[in-house]
Amino acid sequence: GDAWKLKDHPKLPKGKTVAVIVLDGWGEAKPNEYNAISVAETPVMDSLKKGAPEHWRLIKAHGNAVGLPTEDDMGNSEVGHNALGAGRIFAQGAKLVDLALASGKIYEGEGFKYVKECFEKGTLHLIGLLSDGGVHSRLDQVQLLLKGAAQHGAKRIRVHALTDGRDVLDGSSVGFMETLENDLAKLREQGVDARVASGGGRMYVTMDRYENDWDVVKRGWDAQVLGEAPHKFKDPVEAIKKLRQEPNANDQYLAPFVIVDDNGKPVGPILDGDAVVTFNFRADRMVMLAKALEYENFDKFDRVRVPKIHYAGMLQYDGELKLPSKYLVSPPEIDRTSGEYLVRNGVRTFACSETVKFGHVTFFWNGNRSGYFDEKLEEYVEIPSDSGITFNVKPKMKALEIAERTRDAILSGKFDQVRVNIPNGDMVGHTGDIKATIEACKAADDGVKMILDAIEQVGGIYVVTADHGNAEDMVKRNKKGEPLLDKNGNIQILTSHTCEPVPIAIGGPGLIPGVRFRKDLPTGGLANVASTFMNLHGYEAPSDYEPTLIEVVDK
Ligand code: 3PG
Ligand code: CO
Repeated sequence: GDAWKLKDHPKLPKGKTVAVIVLDGWGEAKPNEYNAISVAETPVMDSLKKGAPEHWRLIKAHGNAVGLPTEDDMGNSEVGHNALGAGRIFAQGAKLVDLALASGKIYEGEGFKYVKECFEKGTLHLIGLLSDGGVHSRLDQVQLLLKGAAQHGAKRIRVHALTDGRDVLDGSSVGFMETLENDLAKLREQGVDARVASGGGRMYVTMDRYENDWDVVKRGWDAQVLGEAPHKFKDPVEAIKKLRQEPNANDQYLAPFVIVDDNGKPVGPILDGDAVVTFNFRADRMVMLAKALEYENFDKFDRVRVPKIHYAGMLQYDGELKLPSKYLVSPPEIDRTSGEYLVRNGVRTFACSETVKFGHVTFFWNGNRSGYFDEKLEEYVEIPSDSGITFNVKPKMKALEIAERTRDAILSGKFDQVRVNIPNGDMVGHTGDIKATIEACKAADDGVKMILDAIEQVGGIYVVTADHGNAEDMVKRNKKGEPLLDKNGNIQILTSHTCEPVPIAIGGPGLIPGVRFRKDLPTGGLANVASTFMNLHGYEAPSDYEPTLIEVVDK
């Protein structure tokens, strides 16, 4: 219908090829030895910055600007790409869960009622990331949920905890587990049989994404559902401490373990009649487990035993697949995204990344919705990621392949928008390997070059930006900004994202003279980018979108 029709921009022409390039984990910070971007050779990104000041600026990518609860919340790819694609700021999962817990509404919804039906005879299992990172989950929410579930009649509770070290410092898992154990002990004093049942590192157990490696989910399934794991412990804090001592062990890649009783029997496999809640609010790394828990027909790995359970997600993770069908908190309704508008106005769209970031420029970009709006006008290309390695081993990742495919898409003349995520700064930054992250940044810059060269050739326009910071700061700092040392005098490596702003640059031969960044939006953020590229496609953005970053002055 015509509700989708976009108004023509009064000054900007249609028909230019627009490349929207998102560098993942590429923030702006003062040059220093822990700023991998400033240390790396990045001539293309440097020249964009040093180029015309009216074509380069910084935008906000964290906190309220992307719908997170507080200004202390670092940005992340989910909320970043949601904002980039949707052109508006939506209260995100972290905040919605906070509100539902504070008001108690979470216990009145259909999802909780559904899991509650099992409280009389079955066990309530909580599965998710044990961390205060606020990216996928938050420990304080888990604490409230545990308390609330007990108050609402849960008599037997088992927690299946995934350790983090990626959104928080490596090693912090021990403290989080101690906190959890403390809470569970309090519940036990009140007569609730509450315990940790299993655990493992998030990158090795359960939290794969975009179907990069189903073995990760299988390892989790074996521990959580079947009660089988290579390591057995009686005490979860001891489990983490011991397993962290194995060679090369860290929180992200901790081996899976189950907690056993005095007879060596696992204390919490998932059985018929049990309830399960996956407590991550973020979708990408829970969807695969949700499929394994919910789908009757499932062939990704042998589940061996499929318990009849009442399962709910903290949120619904995929709006198109309606997965999971039951959830405790309604997800943000990210509707009328720029991707959908542009396609409905005939803009032929190409999107590309490698597996580990593929859903970022498709699923997240389109408001947590998988699939095409119009197959005839869209092509989404996934370059297979390396699997089974940590990305510091191959810091170039698939940047070159992504850039080549994108170049070819541009040169083919078949597309009006090409949209791409270059993952290196983020994925290698998360490993905490500074040397490798420096190489990663160079590879990302090389990728940008190839795409900009193609844009040059076809007379197109580019928009280069990022979703949040990561590689620009690799060290934990105190309030004054000084690097923090651990007790051995070594710097504390920062594997997580940051609260830094990100750059945005526009240019290319298709940009008509007189286009420049406005000066009246100093606090502009990622949500302002959609209006910006809609303009560059020759359209006005919908009136409720955040304002465009550009203006056209007569030249
Ligand atoms: C991850 O899931 O890898 C991290 O928690 C967040 O990284 P991303 O937001 O860049 O995907
Ligand atoms: Co990241």
